[in-house]
Amino acid sequence: MSSKEARQQLLALSWTKKALTLSYVVFVFPLAFLWKLAKSPVQLRGYPKPWRRKIREILLQAIRDGLDVTQMRFLLKGNTKTAYEAWAKSKDVDPREDVIAHGGRILWVGKGPKDSEEDSKVVLYFHGGGYLLPMQEWSLDYWSTAIKVLEKSKKHVSVAALAYNLSGESTYPVQLNQALAAIEHLLKVGYKPSNIVLAGDSAGANLVFQVLLHLNLLRLRSTSSASDVDVAETGVATFELPADLKLRGALGISPWFPVHSKKAAAKSYQENRGSDIISPEALRDFARIYAAGVPESHKPHFDFTTTPKEWFKGLDGVVDRILITVGEKELLRDDILEVARGKVAEYHPDTTIILQEFGVHDDVFYDAAAGLDPLTTKLTLEILEWLEAVLNQGTLGRWPRLLSLKRDKASHSD
Ligand SMILES: *[C@@H]1O[C@H](CO)[C@@H](O)[C@H](O)[C@H]1NC(C)=O
Repeated sequence: MSSKEARQQLLALSWTKKALTLSYVVFVFPLAFLWKLAKSPVQLRGYPKPWRRKIREILLQAIRDGLDVTQMRFLLKGNTKTAYEAWAKSKDVDPREDVIAHGGRILWVGKGPKDSEEDSKVVLYFHGGGYLLPMQEWSLDYWSTAIKVLEKSKKHVSVAALAYNLSGESTYPVQLNQALAAIEHLLKVGYKPSNIVLAGDSAGANLVFQVLLHLNLLRLRSTSSASDVDVAETGVATFELPADLKLRGALGISPWFPVHSKKAAAKSYQENRGSDIISPEALRDFARIYAAGVPESHKPHFDFTTTPKEWFKGLDGVVDRILITVGEKELLRDDILEVARGKVAEYHPDTTIILQEFGVHDDVFYDAAAGLDPLTTKLTLEILEWLEAVLNQGTLGRWPRLLSLKRDKASHSD
């Protein structure tokens, strides 16, 4: 069976299942939500999040418990481009998109490169959603808030959100090709590598690390010491990226490191089953669809729990600084920490790892979704502090420390 057929089989949604999905939403969902809400005061003792935020989490948990990923995909009708256009309209800003190689698009938030000066900065953002669900407007709200804060230091900062193909229509390594094409495009329109930061959440953060690993392997292969790294061909396109390309930074928020891993049996899967906003079954299904028909030998290029450690050797030659954030209450916690500490930080001395207290998967995005100011969340302030320092080639800790986050022991910041 071809990988396309395999994916289509996994994604097929019968007429009856569609009808069931809609009746769940109309009849069962409100009751499930209210039931969870009624139980919540008991669970909320000592829970340090605003009630509106908590309601948002309960809402997401009711979706988590009632719908599988094909049903979620069915209900989220739009795509990344339509979400962007709707967002631009609601914010009364002009949408601006660049079509790039391999069928991807860059959707600009902020001024974009048009009025770019010599030293303007860009965050190249990859959204999450298990490679199956499109970008949501809350991501754009988040980044437009971020731009306002980052531009206070009088720099020109834009966010380039990549609209990549989802796994319903395309298969690995299409998204990696599109991400590399986006970097090539940014260089072409005049950004210096030292002014480019990659950022992503969940599957988007997986893509950030696919890019870093790919650039690193290219370099390892071109040096004589690479004989110990045996890398299978993965069909990634060739790009005219400079051989000494070194990006300024990479940010991974709740990175989906264990795609298709059979090792997803970490303690955090049991511990956080109730508290996270995503289920182990959804993670499994996203992975199955993404990896359908992909040869085994390609999997270590995106399932970082199976990537040989040595493939990260020399990672600090590809990117200056790395920040990885992970929620204490998320399923992926232990897998993320294992890869972040044991592989990324092992070969990159400027890796900061933040463990967010009470954080769920992709936690920082739900403030805007709940109508709250993202700047009220400690982790968002930490992320912005890091971005500010990184984009301005500065050192960390220049901002007043509003924050008292549990710093991970493996952290190398400050
Ligand atoms: C991306 O998706 C579009 C629309 O679904 C499709 O036409 C195109 O072939 C896909 N591109 C790649 C590279 O898979």
